[in-house]
Amino acid sequence: MPTVRDLTAKAGEEPITMLTAYDAPTAEIVDDADVDVILVGDSVGNASLGYETTLPVTVDDMARHVGAVSRATEDALVVADMPFLSFGVDEGESIENAGRMLKEEGAHAVKLESGPHTVDLTEKMVQLGIPVMAHLGLTPQHVNQYGGYPRQGTDEAAAERIVDLAAAHEVAGAFSLVLEHVPSNLAAAVTEAIDIPTIGIGAGPDCDGQVLVVDDAVGLSEWSPSFAKQFGNVREEMESAVADYVEAVESGAFPAEEHSHEEADLEDIY
Ligand code: KIV
Ligand code: NA
Repeated sequence: MPTVRDLTAKAGEEPITMLTAYDAPTAEIVDDADVDVILVGDSVGNASLGYETTLPVTVDDMARHVGAVSRATEDALVVADMPFLSFGVDEGESIENAGRMLKEEGAHAVKLESGPHTVDLTEKMVQLGIPVMAHLGLTPQHVNQYGGYPRQGTDEAAAERIVDLAAAHEVAGAFSLVLEHVPSNLAAAVTEAIDIPTIGIGAGPDCDGQVLVVDDAVGLSEWSPSFAKQFGNVREEMESAVADYVEAVESGAFPAEEHSHEEADLEDIY
């Protein structure tokens, strides 16, 4: 069984790889590629559920997708992202929601968009046996405060807050930290300042690992952030397959003889 200890062991030796996945076939592909961590991100809201932000994603949505990914994953560590307002309002409810991902859906850990309000909560979850991945820098659940998705930690005071919060979450027992859309020298400084592995997205090359939304990485997303890299063009491949299907049905080329089952003996109905 993969555990958070595997990550700790790998950090600093070799770069840690993490990708999101939201469904079983994608999780299988990602797991077969020996990716270390599969994050069932609340980015499922944008990527798969047709929402403009992650805010509408529910605990039930996450549970459904975490279950699908866990069932299809053998080797990777499965991390369940906790959606907007599923944590941080009431401690008991936060722990029940996070615990459900491990207890019922097969996740190995949860991720919380972190802030001053998640230090004690992280400690409590870890004490109870729920490993926590922290997340600092750009935290997309704050889109209404940001008015978009701007880079974070770009002045001294903001950078210092991120360094301090990273240290506080390490002390609270987080096993790893995602750093999203921050200057690369800040990500390097955080990585230097704490012992737990940092995993960057739009945070430069000096983190202990990297994460991308899988739809962005394979080229399925209609839009992706400038810091993402497209390593394939799945969207083009699907567009061409779907167009070929439509043409084949319309022209009568599909189904051909080999796609049709043998006729049954139905003389009586004629
Ligand atoms: O939801 C998500 O996919 C994430 C990653 C981008 C870190 O939080
Ligand atoms: Na997320």
